[in-house]
Amino acid sequence: SNNMMDDVEKILFSEEELTARIREMGAAITADYAGKEILMIGILRGAVFFMADLARAVKQTVAIDFMAVSSYGAATSSSGVVRILKDLDEDVANKHVLIVEDIIDSGLTLNYLMENLWSRKPASIKICTLLNKPERRKVEVPIAYNGFTIPDYFVIGYGLDYAEKYRNLPFIGVLKPEAYAG
Ligand code: PRP
Ligand code: MN
Ligand code: MG
Repeated sequence: SNNMMDDVEKILFSEEELTARIREMGAAITADYAGKEILMIGILRGAVFFMADLARAVKQTVAIDFMAVSSYGAATSSSGVVRILKDLDEDVANKHVLIVEDIIDSGLTLNYLMENLWSRKPASIKICTLLNKPERRKVEVPIAYNGFTIPDYFVIGYGLDYAEKYRNLPFIGVLKPEAYAG
C-alpha cells in the first residue's frame, strides 16, 4: 500500500503538539540571541521540515544554510568518521551558529560536525534538536535546545525517514515493526 498511515503504529507527537513545542523553542531562541545574528545550519535531509517551522518561530532575523553528510557505514560506526557531501555556502567565521537537527541518536554526526565547524572560528555554536534519543548515545554532545526526549522507538515523519519514506507525514509517529522487518 502507498497509504503511509497503514505503517504507523501510533502517533507520538501530533501536528498540534509539534507546533506548540516549536513555538516555545522559537521564543527561547529569540530571547537568548537578542542582539545577535543567528545563522541556522540545517543538516540535510531530516532537519528541513523542523528548521522551516523553527525559523518562522524565531522573531528576529535568521540566516539559513545547509550541510549534507554521509552516514558513517557499519565499518566506521565506532570511529564516527563522517564525510561531507555538501558543505556550507557561506563562511561561518564570527557568526553565531545554531545547528538544527531532527534527531540525535548515537551523537556521532553532531560530534563530528561540532569539531569541524569550530575549526572555522565561529563566534558561537549551539545545537537545537527536535528529538533526543539518549539511550542510543555513543558520544556526548551538548544540546542547548531539545524538543522532546524519547525512548528507543523507530520514529518517522516530520522529516524523519525509513528508507526515504514517511518524511512528509505531518506528525512524529512510530513505525510498525512489520514495515521494516525482513
Ligand atoms: C539521521 C538524523 C540525524 C542523524 C542522527 O540522519 O537525521 O542527522 O541520523 O544520528 P546519529 O546521532 O547517530 O549520528 P540520516 O543519516 O538518516 O540522514 P537523513 O537526515 O537524510 O535521513
Ligand atoms: Mn539527518
Ligand atoms: Mg535518515
